[in-house]
Amino acid sequence: MKALLLENIHQVAVESLEAKGYEVELLSRSLSEEELVEALPGVSLLGIRSNTNVTATVLANAPDLLAIGCFCIGTNQVDLAAASERGVAVFNAPYSNTRSVVELVIGEIIALARRLPEKIEKMHAGVWDKSAKGSHEVRGRTLGIVGYGNIGTQLSTVAEALGMRVVFFDTADRPAHGNARRMSTLDELLAVSDVVSLHIDGRPGNAGLFGHEQFSKMKPRAMFVNAARGMVVDTESLREHILSGHIAGAAMDVFPVEPKAQGDPFESPLRGLDNVILTPHVGGSTQEAQEEIGWFVAGKLAAFALHGSTALSVNLPDVNVPELRSGHRLGFLHRNVPGVLARLNEMLAEQGDNVVQQQLATRGEVGYVVTDAAAPLSEGSLERLAASENGLWVRTWSA
Ligand SMILES: NC(=O)c1ccc[n+]([C@@H]2O[C@H](COP(=O)([O-])OP(=O)(O)OC[C@H]3O[C@@H](n4cnc5c(N)ncnc54)[C@H](O)[C@@H]3O)[C@@H](O)[C@H]2O)c1
Repeated sequence: MKALLLENIHQVAVESLEAKGYEVELLSRSLSEEELVEALPGVSLLGIRSNTNVTATVLANAPDLLAIGCFCIGTNQVDLAAASERGVAVFNAPYSNTRSVVELVIGEIIALARRLPEKIEKMHAGVWDKSAKGSHEVRGRTLGIVGYGNIGTQLSTVAEALGMRVVFFDTADRPAHGNARRMSTLDELLAVSDVVSLHIDGRPGNAGLFGHEQFSKMKPRAMFVNAARGMVVDTESLREHILSGHIAGAAMDVFPVEPKAQGDPFESPLRGLDNVILTPHVGGSTQEAQEEIGWFVAGKLAAFALHGSTALSVNLPDVNVPELRSGHRLGFLHRNVPGVLARLNEMLAEQGDNVVQQQLATRGEVGYVVTDAAAPLSEGSLERLAASENGLWVRTWSA
């Protein structure tokens, strides 16, 4: 029961896993491929952030590894196909920073409506320019939310609490929160919004979604916010609309090209424009989000290791089972071919076992079935199952 957490993962993850009986080693840095190969034997849970690459070679040399927790949003740093092939579950924290993004966007909308970027800059330059010209309250103004998912819906609720009117457009059927009104097209939303805020996901079709045509359709002197994905917006076109005065202000947290490393130069046609807030992709970067991520991913790792639940795994089939209260549980990860479930149930029937509950899910090449039964499967049956042609692993738990 050893967990290795890298890259200074929040202490709450350490405490959470220790409370579940894990011996936890926390390192502040990432490890190279060679270092991981050396460190992983004996480790059942690995926690990383975005700077540790878990390659197929690392996975091939980690005989005791059950699961990898990415204490961040992205999972590109893990070879997911190799992890699935070896039956290693991968988890992440896709929604733990939702509130942080919402709070940044709300702050930016108010700052833009009051033209704070200009006022702050002048004060730092020693210029006292006290004027109400161009400054507005956000109360009573219409916020158009494009993409009404986790972030969009929470923004909707908080914006309404400030007295804003909310309209939204989403390509999927999303129920309205509070008094928000659904728009049937993006154009309809653009025509009525005083502020347009993007919260769509990064699917390939969204590249370049927002360009000259969309900015032209926004109300004159409306404001624009993008804390979703950089590639969605044509920044040259936004620059033109800000310079022409059609767009009264913009807040951008994400960019088509972002510097790779801390301290690298940042280039953008939006630099130096009036009433434009530029932030370095920090929408989700708060201490609270880090703590929430630590708690969330540690919980998923523990639920998988201690109860067999793959709920919200990014690579294995999703089987959400609660903690076992009594009896015995059998988890069987296998190749997704016909007949596996039937053969498992034959084995259970042969020994006269009474199945209490059973859940099967498949995902691509892999299937996962969790069976709760009154008696444990015999050692012989377990060995046959584990050695079966389509078996990836068999694990058991008893309450
Ligand atoms: N700035 C940051 O630091 C930061 C932090 C977290 C998330 N994000 C980004 O915020 C965005 C939203 O995150 P989320 O968790 O709310 O995602 P989500 O998947 O819950 O919601 C996205 C919504 O957008 C909708 N959508 C997709 N394409 C659309 C389109 N063309 N038009 C209208 N609706 C469309 C989807 O149906 C979905 O409802 C993502 O792009 C995410 O990467 C940024």
